[in-house]
Amino acid sequence: MRSRITRSTFLSMGLFSLCLLAPAQQLPYSSTVLILDHPTSFSALPNGIAISDGAAREEITAVRDDILRVRITSSGIMPEDASWAVLPGPLHASVSVTPESSAQSFGFRTAALDVQVNRSNMRLTVRDLSGKIIQQDALPVRFQGTSFRVYKTMPLDEHYFGLGDKTGPLDRRDEAFSMWNTDAYRYQESTDPLYKTIPYFLIYRAGIASGIFLDNTWRSSFDFGKALPGVYSFGAVNGPLNYYILYGPAPKKVVEEYAWLTGTPPLPPLWTLGYQQSRYSYTPQSRVLEIAHRLRADHIPADAIYLDIGYQDHNRPFTVDTKTFPDFKGMIAQLHAEDFHVVTIVDLHIARYPNHNYYPYDSGTAGNHFVHNPDGSVYSGIVWPGPSVFPDFTQQQSRRWFGTLYKTFYDTYGVDGFWDDMNEPSIFDVPTKTMPLDVIHRINEPGFITRTATHAEIHNIFGMQNSRGTYEGLLKLKPNQRAFVLTRASYAGGQRYAATWTGDNSSTWNHLRITHFMLENLGLSGFAFSGADVGGYAGTPPPDLLTKWIELAAFQPIDRDHTEINSGNQEPWVGGPAQEAIRRHFINTRYRLMPYLYTLADQTSRTGLPMIRPLFLDYPDAAADRHPIDIDLPASGEFLLGHDILVAPSPFPEEPDSYAVEFPSPVWYNYWTGEKLGPPAPNPNLPVDQVPLTLNVTPELASLPVFVHAGSILPIQPLVQSTNQVPDGPLTLKVYAGDDCSGSIYQDDGRTFDYKHGAYLRIHFTCSATPSGFTVHADPQQGTYPAWWKLIRVEVYGWKPSTRSVSLDGQPFRGAVLDIQNGIAVTIPASATGFNLEIH
Ligand code: NOJ
Repeated sequence: MRSRITRSTFLSMGLFSLCLLAPAQQLPYSSTVLILDHPTSFSALPNGIAISDGAAREEITAVRDDILRVRITSSGIMPEDASWAVLPGPLHASVSVTPESSAQSFGFRTAALDVQVNRSNMRLTVRDLSGKIIQQDALPVRFQGTSFRVYKTMPLDEHYFGLGDKTGPLDRRDEAFSMWNTDAYRYQESTDPLYKTIPYFLIYRAGIASGIFLDNTWRSSFDFGKALPGVYSFGAVNGPLNYYILYGPAPKKVVEEYAWLTGTPPLPPLWTLGYQQSRYSYTPQSRVLEIAHRLRADHIPADAIYLDIGYQDHNRPFTVDTKTFPDFKGMIAQLHAEDFHVVTIVDLHIARYPNHNYYPYDSGTAGNHFVHNPDGSVYSGIVWPGPSVFPDFTQQQSRRWFGTLYKTFYDTYGVDGFWDDMNEPSIFDVPTKTMPLDVIHRINEPGFITRTATHAEIHNIFGMQNSRGTYEGLLKLKPNQRAFVLTRASYAGGQRYAATWTGDNSSTWNHLRITHFMLENLGLSGFAFSGADVGGYAGTPPPDLLTKWIELAAFQPIDRDHTEINSGNQEPWVGGPAQEAIRRHFINTRYRLMPYLYTLADQTSRTGLPMIRPLFLDYPDAAADRHPIDIDLPASGEFLLGHDILVAPSPFPEEPDSYAVEFPSPVWYNYWTGEKLGPPAPNPNLPVDQVPLTLNVTPELASLPVFVHAGSILPIQPLVQSTNQVPDGPLTLKVYAGDDCSGSIYQDDGRTFDYKHGAYLRIHFTCSATPSGFTVHADPQQGTYPAWWKLIRVEVYGWKPSTRSVSLDGQPFRGAVLDIQNGIAVTIPASATGFNLEIH
């Protein structure tokens, strides 16, 4: 029997179902509800299975052994198989499967998964090969009009992460979110939606991770047991029901699979990992130079100054206000001479300013590059410049045209990076804050049918395609220079084109507290290069808050101090010399850690693994029951910078009370002192391997607890004031004795793509303690890029020498073994062919 039911039967299903639907104004009212729960036929495909329920059809296919794809159509006609997010290779990838069915279910196996659809109710169950359920439909898939919803069972001990930089706790459990890119000025902890749409989440239960990526650009929504206890669900108001199931079991593997599907971020220019100074707006020109000079005079290392909209003529993108910036090019040259890079904001809207030789408007009009109203006229909305028109970024030729507009700024003025703001897009004079849903976009894109689409379909990818136009345009203008784009809005896969920030946060302690949740979830969602406005955007931070924020941001991927117009100053010196000294110390620390940060950035660009991470990503077995320890109150303030560094601020940063740091493994070292912590003392009530290492900390303004995992080797450089400067002195390897001890360093010119042709340096290090001594080993250098160091200072923590005799590559070495706090240090000559250092 067909499963078509009436509105009244629908209501009798329970109010919860209604709550899960998208907002009424987005949903063309339709009483037609289709519940897929009566399969009428099953068939095997080479790469999966197909099931029909009357006219409706579901296909479950294996993209890889560990990645499945589910597509369902209510009409029987599969929608266009195209994606803005998924790369062409993965989009069309498939593996053959082994059919496996029973009297109750129809399905198949891959080398990693067992996939079964119940023959009587059509519910999908995915298991691993040991029979453990990974994901299971809780209710039938349902369509209402154009909208659809998928429901999965939600075990009590399952946790959910991702969805980009949504606010709220790290774990999405018991929360609900909608995806509609929104200019959310001064958002607070429960504000939703925000700027980005990343309809992907990672699922973690008792050590087993999987993921779901709903590749649908329309307004979508995700509910993790809020509307219906025991059920999580996702759906969209329109567009394809097309989702991917990613299987770990390791959480890192799921992150890498998502990166395989949607791409990794490109290796950023080195300078973008330096400290960046911004505000809305540094004007006039003399003020910009004054800020730069003060940073240098105060010995605050810094790499970039940002120019917000104030540098433009009447806020018109691609212009300069020559009254306030009489020598824009000269100013940039001067900043370059002082080792600064310059990032300018360039909003996507183009001022509607005809007959004034405003080239972006004139050339965009001549090329028919702006989006249209349904009646064919060009759509216009009010933004910073007043009436504005909007490039049609879903047309490749319009993106190409937009990319050419950067020529003068990039080539002639020498601007180093571009900041794509307001690209949700934000529109001021309307209650919806964005363009009408019936605005017409044209799609002209390889892989897509050339067609028109309404803004309702394109809205959530508009910012992504804006940043793509910028990124690809910059690469065209300077093919061998790594382009830097910072975008506010984006969609899944947008990490291929731009770094991002968390938008207009506030100068409050609570915003400082939630920043790392937002950055961790962004990192799990592909956006590894991300930051929050340091000090907070809306409002003026009290000095202690700014200090704490600068401390924490020193360990986060993008470290940019930024604030709104008319707020108080919040540069590192604001609040007096005592505060400044603390802030300088932390920014100095970041610069000393630059080789570690850049090595991480390289790993990110190759694998998609984020720089800032929740603890469970690297330590999934931290708790005996393998729950993610990040959700424990003591660990909830903590985050990892790469695998080796644990940053542990108070979970409630404004409170003076002491708190407990909970470590994810038994032995760590204090980053600042080298002191070894752990293993923990036995606890008569717990098995030995289940006693957690904890540490009580009393918060102090000037200190931030930072720890290093036993078995790490961190590369550290002498202090510089900008990444332009070549460090002067030895490379330091901080070696923290422990099991499976290893580390690495990655270097290149920091600017070009020459590393793709071999001009890089990568060295792997290992260490081991034996009864006769301690060995630090370096493999031969990979790549041809020359090291800047001539000497390597090896510092060993957590191990004590006996005779202090040293051998290097099997020969006695006469260098001294120095005592340092909690360790020893030996300095050896650098060598591209590696070394073997033994200390006795
Ligand atoms: C909104 C952005 O989020 C903010 O960072 C910027 O300062 C203002 N637009 C002005 O351009």
